[in-house]
Amino acid sequence: MSNSNGSQLYTDEVMEHFKEPHNYGKMRDADGIGKVGNIRCGDVMWLYIKVEDNVIKDVKFEAYGCLAAIATSSVITDLIKGKSIKEAVELKKEEIIEQLGDLPQVKVHCSVLGVDALLEAIYDYLQKQGKKIPEKVKQRHQKNKKAKEKVEEQYEDWSKVEEKLHEQE
Ligand code: FES
Repeated sequence: MSNSNGSQLYTDEVMEHFKEPHNYGKMRDADGIGKVGNIRCGDVMWLYIKVEDNVIKDVKFEAYGCLAAIATSSVITDLIKGKSIKEAVELKKEEIIEQLGDLPQVKVHCSVLGVDALLEAIYDYLQKQGKKIPEKVKQRHQKNKKAKEKVEEQYEDWSKVEEKLHEQE
């Protein structure tokens, strides 16, 4: 772990991923799209995957989120590119944190946003393809669906503005 950026809270790795997130942006021809919201803070994230022969060939993400959420999602895209759907489903929070050097305990929940977006994108892909959806992905989808509804209800006005902005891009 390194921390020469003067920040008490974040490692250099976190700051680098935040300042220049990898694979950031929209994907117009995605095979699967995951959109999730964090009920604790109202942050929203989209993750797009392009799949060929069951392998994630390309991935992109967009986020209206905090520094930790952006850095963790950037790492997630690096980790899953080139992996099979099965391997991506098994991605562990610990692997992400390891890549970041460390993440403050109070910010670990932010890393969940990227993982949830990934599993939602996989759910979307498998469902569109009529393929079998693993139990873990199904369960996360149910949880994410409820969380997304809560965020939309709780942050109604903001959410409308954000959707509008997203559509216009
Ligand atoms: Fe919202 Fe981190 S504070 S995801």
